Amino acid sequence: MAAESGSSRYSAEFDLPLRGDAITAERYISTAFMERESEHLWPRVWLLGAMVAEFEQEGDYVRHNLGKESVIMVRQADDSIKAFYNTCPHRGNRLILGDIGGSERITCGYHGWQYSSDGLLVHVQDPDDFPGGDPCGKVSLSEVRCETWGPFVFYCMDTDVKPLLEWLAPLPERLKDYGLDNWIRVMYLSADADFNWKIIRDNFNESYHLPTIHPELSTIINDGLPDTLFEMYESGHNSMWMKGHQASTRNPSFQSGEVPSPLDDVARAWDLDPADFEGRSADIREAIIEAKRRLGPERGYSNYVNMSDQQLVDYFHCTLFPNLTITMSPEQCQIMSTEPHPTDPQKCIFHHWVIVPPVEGMKEVVTPIGPVPMEWAEHRHSVYGDGQSVGFVADQDLSIGASQQQGLNSRGFNSCFLTYQEKRVQRFHELLNDYVDTDTINTEALT
Ligand code: FES
Repeated sequence: MAAESGSSRYSAEFDLPLRGDAITAERYISTAFMERESEHLWPRVWLLGAMVAEFEQEGDYVRHNLGKESVIMVRQADDSIKAFYNTCPHRGNRLILGDIGGSERITCGYHGWQYSSDGLLVHVQDPDDFPGGDPCGKVSLSEVRCETWGPFVFYCMDTDVKPLLEWLAPLPERLKDYGLDNWIRVMYLSADADFNWKIIRDNFNESYHLPTIHPELSTIINDGLPDTLFEMYESGHNSMWMKGHQASTRNPSFQSGEVPSPLDDVARAWDLDPADFEGRSADIREAIIEAKRRLGPERGYSNYVNMSDQQLVDYFHCTLFPNLTITMSPEQCQIMSTEPHPTDPQKCIFHHWVIVPPVEGMKEVVTPIGPVPMEWAEHRHSVYGDGQSVGFVADQDLSIGASQQQGLNSRGFNSCFLTYQEKRVQRFHELLNDYVDTDTINTEALT
């Protein structure tokens, strides 16, 4: 269980009390818990399904599978986007089998029923052979709520859930100055992985693992606890501000003032001489803010103008309930989600997008899989461990997932024993418990 207090900084404005529910292995390994999530969680939350830019003309669609469910989002004649369950009202055949496409009509591959982009049945074989007469114009695909935030398309299977922007609060407001609307998805990867979807959710809800799993980040991100700000919101989402362009207080160079690599290269990229900062490397962060303000617009970073100093150099890591992570830097946004496997609670599907602002003249951009063209990326799906990277830092996160899943299957594991800074992990599971109406709630006070 999480301790009541600690050295980490939870914002006084955005801190929340916890119950101390026990986090046992059941939720990571049992089919019964997975089925409760299928029944009570996934249909009642907003889920990221696509990007607005994927829908260029009427009839363009994106399919999104989630566990056993499948939804299609379709561009309408009035440029809006509607979503439908991906099932044919005739006898239930799945309508769309590919990830993305476009057509004037949605045609079922079984008996050829056809639907217009607004989901209305417009053509059947043998229309006179129905007891009630021709069903065209009377039957529709089953609709799902669909709303957009900036460049993103979300869907929700429940009619009682709040509208998307209220659901996401306060993050649309907190992220608006990055100007995400016209950003381009230059990396789109997914992978089957051998662990429950919540393992990576937990991982993204804490930074306690950074010194061990991502030690190289300590040369460019200050992951020291006193310098990291955590926030938890009533909506169930969380965030963390980490100081960027500064070595970690855990890294020897922070004390010595030596300029570590790659911070030296970043300084040079903004016309700063690392030698000027020897003995005071922490000052590079402020100097880069000034350099970005001065040089950014002429280098094509027109989005810098609205950003705060903090946004110009730091990392804003947002974990949205239940399964979405958005990590912001001014030049790149990483979006990661984990989704349940259709039948196996000990597997999941990991998704990793990178979106970047369009910068005039820039032909290539560096991503977690190396340099890629500055253009919309194709989706690449793999099986984690087959040698294809899902992004350098994400590879490190996923590398621990399988071994944690194995350990959670041990008779020797009791329940999680959390630090104070892992409060967001605790919060995630308590909210999850509220959804699945679990009987495992432990109301003991935090110790
Ligand atoms: Fe779709 Fe028959 S199941 S047309």
